[in-house]
Amino acid sequence: MPLEGRFTPPGDKSISHRLVLMSLAAEGEMLVRGLSDCDDVASSLAAFRSLGGRAEAEAEGMLRIRGLGGRWAPPEALELPCDNSGTTIRLLMGLLAGRPGRYILDGDQSLRRRPMERVAEPLRLMGARIETVGGRPPVTVTGRALSGITYSMTSASAQLKSAVLLAGLSAAGKTTVTEPAASRDHTERLIDYFGGPIEVDGLTASVTPGTMSLRRFFETPADPSAAAFFLAAAAFIPRSRVAAENILLSKARTGFLRVLDRMGAKVSLTMTGDTPEPTGDVTVQYDGELEGTEVAAEEIPSLIDEIPVLALAATQARGRTVFRKVDELRVKETDRLMNIRHQLGALGARVGVDGDDLIVEGPTSFIIPESLDSGSDHRLAMTLALALKAAKAHVPIVGWESISVSYPSFYDHLNDMWRD
Ligand code: S3P
Repeated sequence: MPLEGRFTPPGDKSISHRLVLMSLAAEGEMLVRGLSDCDDVASSLAAFRSLGGRAEAEAEGMLRIRGLGGRWAPPEALELPCDNSGTTIRLLMGLLAGRPGRYILDGDQSLRRRPMERVAEPLRLMGARIETVGGRPPVTVTGRALSGITYSMTSASAQLKSAVLLAGLSAAGKTTVTEPAASRDHTERLIDYFGGPIEVDGLTASVTPGTMSLRRFFETPADPSAAAFFLAAAAFIPRSRVAAENILLSKARTGFLRVLDRMGAKVSLTMTGDTPEPTGDVTVQYDGELEGTEVAAEEIPSLIDEIPVLALAATQARGRTVFRKVDELRVKETDRLMNIRHQLGALGARVGVDGDDLIVEGPTSFIIPESLDSGSDHRLAMTLALALKAAKAHVPIVGWESISVSYPSFYDHLNDMWRD
């Protein structure tokens, strides 16, 4: 019962958010092909439109976005619902902090338990006025004049780094951020691609006040974090071979492919483009039982969103797999660390948490419970769907519909590639 076929996942979610939200600050207009059709990006688009931004469908899969160049009528208290999207709320905090007006950023129950002080704190050092409710949304941003800062981040978070850099574009002087390990660098690449004043040197990025201009056309690469579900499943389901096309392949996003390769899957890449991001086709083929591996703390930012499905692969691998220092998982859409442990545990997998490390002992032959519960966490829902498929079991997954947060066509692709 293998997975077999070629597919193109939706446009990359991280890049799609940035194309939309950075258009608040950028001049000009841009035709975008393949913007992600997921709920999270719809939240960013809704916020963009609430501020007066125009984004119109032009043809199948094409959206024309007109940049606002940082100019809109300052609202007195504009509510911007960010729904389930951490990227929407955190990037907006940075983009709005230095612009006139008062904004109330809120979200659903899941977003309302996620930490916002990590972003509010450096922005306040720049002079921003930001209030949270006990460190969480709703977040009220009252735009003020900002000044650049030099800031050392204590954890590698692309959302935090992006918020500070985007605020820096409207701040006086130079803003410099240094991160402890490399997180995704799409904001830096896009600022540069849109002609903004940015310099990057290793783990340090600096911006000075300036403008960005949208490009005439932008082709959104497909999302490696969506592709990862099928690529990782192909690595552990015997006789599988799956090819994902036109995938974003930046080093900061492809840690999961290096881990699958290390565990013994056959992984091959064909690069097809490199500006502003490396892209290409990826094939993963089953090549015998996987072996457990150690995933070092420095690797975690490059595969943070792929840990649920990598943990599933680890349940089918011989020996022990350890993911070091994955405490960030506790503050994702759910407490993902506990969620992985409990749901894979419900399938009979041996999954433990030791301090901040996640440990999986394999291989496991799954036992099938009456139902599973994703906690409405999209990445858990898709991981559990693949676990059940591999085990040939049909039981309900509570909260399965959350898949639309990042990958609305997940079940279509699963049904297309699954061979009974
Ligand atoms: C994202 C950054 C990561 C990631 C999230 C998307 C982004 O979060 O988990 O899904 O687009 O910047 P952190 O920045 O909190 O690590």
